[in-house]
Amino acid sequence: MTESRTIRWDEDADHVVTLVLDDPDQSANTMNAAFIDSLDATVDRLEARRDTLKGVIVASAKKTFFAGGDLRDLIAVTPETAGDSFEAGMRVKRALRRMETLGVPVVAAINGVALGGGYEIALACHHRVVLDRPAARVGLPEVTFGLLPGGGGVTRTVRMFGVAEALRKVLLEGRQYAPADALAAGLVDAVAAGQEELIAKARAFIDAHPESAQPWDARGYRIPGGTPAHPALAAQLPALPAVLRKKLGGAPYPAPRNILAAAVESAQVDVDTAFVIEARYLTDLVTGQTAKNMIQGFFFDLQAVDSGANRPQRIPTRTVTRVAVLGAGMMGAGIAYSCAKAGIEVVLKDVSVEAAERGKAYSAGLLDRAVAKGRTTEAGRAALLARITPTGDAHDLTGCDAVIEAVFEDPELKGKVFLEAEGAVAADALLCSNTSTLPITLLAGAVRRPKDFIGLHFFSPVDKMRLVEIVKGRETGDEALARAFDLVRQIGKTPIVVNDSRGFFTSRVIGRFIDEGVAMVGEGHDPATVEQAAAQAGYPAKVLALMDELTLTLPRRIREETRRAAEEAGEEWRPHPADAVVDRMIDEFGRTGRSGGAGFYEYGDGGRRGRLWPGLREHFTDPALRGQADLEELKERMLFVEALDAVRCLEEGVLTSVADADVGSLLGIGFPAWTGGVLQYVNGYPGGLPGFLARARELRDLHGERFAPPELLIRKAERGETFTDG
Ligand code: NAI
Repeated sequence: MTESRTIRWDEDADHVVTLVLDDPDQSANTMNAAFIDSLDATVDRLEARRDTLKGVIVASAKKTFFAGGDLRDLIAVTPETAGDSFEAGMRVKRALRRMETLGVPVVAAINGVALGGGYEIALACHHRVVLDRPAARVGLPEVTFGLLPGGGGVTRTVRMFGVAEALRKVLLEGRQYAPADALAAGLVDAVAAGQEELIAKARAFIDAHPESAQPWDARGYRIPGGTPAHPALAAQLPALPAVLRKKLGGAPYPAPRNILAAAVESAQVDVDTAFVIEARYLTDLVTGQTAKNMIQGFFFDLQAVDSGANRPQRIPTRTVTRVAVLGAGMMGAGIAYSCAKAGIEVVLKDVSVEAAERGKAYSAGLLDRAVAKGRTTEAGRAALLARITPTGDAHDLTGCDAVIEAVFEDPELKGKVFLEAEGAVAADALLCSNTSTLPITLLAGAVRRPKDFIGLHFFSPVDKMRLVEIVKGRETGDEALARAFDLVRQIGKTPIVVNDSRGFFTSRVIGRFIDEGVAMVGEGHDPATVEQAAAQAGYPAKVLALMDELTLTLPRRIREETRRAAEEAGEEWRPHPADAVVDRMIDEFGRTGRSGGAGFYEYGDGGRRGRLWPGLREHFTDPALRGQADLEELKERMLFVEALDAVRCLEEGVLTSVADADVGSLLGIGFPAWTGGVLQYVNGYPGGLPGFLARARELRDLHGERFAPPELLIRKAERGETFTDG
């Protein structure tokens, strides 16, 4: 018998075998060559013993149940090597299929994360039990990497839930389920409180269900909701592509389309043929650019950022125990909630205790919804709220080891509240400002310890947005940077690190996108076409709607300040074509954006966005352009202005890494996910950097100097390099 290297065989006296996934060479089990060999050998051994075995438990000795396919391998697949990767996948599926049809009950004992390939192994088992740990997750997140679950995931979930439900629950959103949610949704059959109970429950399934066939292998099994040939499902099917189109807004995501096709087609054939169908659709995705982009951005870059590639080394990790949040408005309230959720004591200070109470009430509201949805308990709610102390008195900030300021965007006021706080908090407390537009170096001038002062730029809504942009001022010390980084990680968010500059990285780059959209209106493009271009490029927000949210007066104020600063420094100042549109909107039509009740859109009760303001067409739109716009070019202009400015940020040292650029653009400012991030977009552009450079020059000739390629881009294109770190 071949001894298996990565799968241990533990057999008890009742002839129940526990297969322990335990790769001796790695910290996690992955779908590598050694595993595939072991799986084959193990299934051979199971087959040889099928008459004497009572049952099989698939368990793991690692923290994660199984980590899935190796994305490094996947990103390297080319059309030439795609055949090998297809064959390796088929080999795994054949082995799991042999285990599934062995005639012996098989139960997955999921002790941690089982996502993608890990959950696909569990799906090949007849029953699934998951350990109730905060970190445990099950699901098929492949779509979020531009892929599809080609390890049997499409074939089996379609048979388990039906085509429409499988698409909704697991395939199209890539949702990762916590144990309780997974049980409620039917992704697992039981939840266990501890490791012993996990194995006991798995064992109980073997005793209770000696029958050992999957429902779909039983005679007369019907896929829930019917096969696509069934009238009921056939009637629903035509709507699915339309639903998908609506969801994607015309953005170029191949994975959802392939998933839809694979689900529908694989439901009409036998399991083995279905495996081939899903594998073909996967191969198509793996060899395309979108999956490579998304894996780079959402996996490798994110991993680099989260793991602290940017954190100064050799400074010990510190945790914050008590934080002062100054200002209990929209941002302060959200920051207080996120800190309290992470177990940090929060003193939430506003001008009065009543104002601070209102900020705390925001947390209560969020928690009410969480309790209603079963995401937390009444006790959890009470404990979190007890950690937030509202106050109007700076003396209550005593003992805080960090300060996060989120008062109005006014440098004088910010200076005043810091001065007040510094008198009360710990002598070495970390001092952070959540300003979105003011230079950190300027604000640092108002505190006693500028080396401990740093920008911590959160995004709204804070409880949902995962990114925090850490901004280093000129005098910020390494110690403060490391502490800020640790604080952001402590509250479970993703920190990018940038150097001080107007708008830092995120606000500066998203500003380019908004200006470009507004400039298009000024050129006479139909505003609806401009919004459509943003949606089709894959932006989650419409560009003119976004401008309204920000208010038109804010960019104008920043523009004026920047212009004055440039003039004082004797630098050249170039107006942007968007400026004239903004000025007319404010001065001629009194439309300042959503908060003013009128902007590019009309607004109803409670600030609800209505239709585009018809006056735009009357005053700005060139009838000759109607229906004549080159949508491709409008889309590219939006993507290019942002990408070119990100390259400039790197050139100027505002950004110090490519990963920060990609992650910041994906998680902070809605740069389209299919690109894998703003610099990965440049890398993945047809023709690579030279192709991108050539197109930038064309756009510059057509639309002006804002499309002029930065030196860094020219140099890298000439040297045949791409934007990568290290
Ligand atoms: P907000 O207007 O909702 O809240 C500001 C709060 O500060 C108010 O509750 C006000 O009573 C309080 N405040 C004023 N003077 C104070 C004092 N002396 N002591 C304590 N509290 C005082 O403003 P928002 O939107 O929360 O913004 C706050 C900061 O966050 C600003 O610097 C803003 O630029 C920044 N920011 C805002 C984002 C957004 O999307 N709104 C995103 C990222 C940063």
